[in-house]
Amino acid sequence: MRILISGNRRGLGAALTTYLSQQGHQVWGFSPSSDPPNQVDVSNFESVQNWVESVVQHYGPPDLVIANAATVLSPAPLAQVDPEDFSRLIDVNVKGMFYLFRAVLPRMSAGVLIGISSGYGRSTSPRMGPYCTSKWAVEGLVKTLASELPKTMAAVALDPGTLQTDMLRQALGEGARFFPTPDQWVDRAAQMILGLGPQHNGQSLTVG
Ligand SMILES: NC(=O)c1ccc[n+]([C@@H]2O[C@H](COP(=O)([O-])OP(=O)(O)OC[C@H]3O[C@@H](n4cnc5c(N)ncnc54)[C@H](OP(=O)(O)O)[C@@H]3O)[C@@H](O)[C@H]2O)c1
Repeated sequence: MRILISGNRRGLGAALTTYLSQQGHQVWGFSPSSDPPNQVDVSNFESVQNWVESVVQHYGPPDLVIANAATVLSPAPLAQVDPEDFSRLIDVNVKGMFYLFRAVLPRMSAGVLIGISSGYGRSTSPRMGPYCTSKWAVEGLVKTLASELPKTMAAVALDPGTLQTDMLRQALGEGARFFPTPDQWVDRAAQMILGLGPQHNGQSLTVG
């Protein structure tokens, strides 16, 4: 399978990239801290489009696209959140997901698009307002896209569960260590992801 994934330098994206590559799939990913040509900021549409075009021209259209890149702010009530920090988070978590899908959709006539969501895309929590806002937007984006796709394709919102990554450490601090690591999670997550198809279009799923 040909797979594209955003934000694959650390955390869940890195674990998925390693695991799926080891399973024999062709995986291409980017992150701001990756080396060129994969040093791409998902909030810059031109960069995302150039990266997608380069991969597709050389290797063909993907079968699976995982919009994984996201960021979180340290917990704070909305009344105290810096407007520029809020704006930057929306640029990455929401616009970035749209940019990746927008760049790749004209190149795909079959396959699966996954928007990585969160429990915070289906519920809310005090002091997590910017992140919750962005993940509720992800759910809306994916479901709208699902209603527009041909029957050969699917868009799915996937909550990965709660995992011990840099993101969770920023949100929870020391409490993050009680959750599974990406390496403990990746086998069941990858099996679930690889099993997704047109029959799952529009669904909000969770890695169990
Ligand atoms: N961990 C959890 O418990 C949890 C729970 C629910 C949902 N999620 C979701 O799962 C996904 C992965 O989270 P994670 O925990 O693995 O996070 P993470 O450890 O913080 O890793 C985030 C990845 O996204 C990349 N990234 C950040 N900003 C980017 C940008 N502007 N452009 C491109 N890539 C960017 C980072 O690249 P650099 O390394 O270059 O910074 C990094 O590779 C996210 O969508 C997150 O919201 C996580």
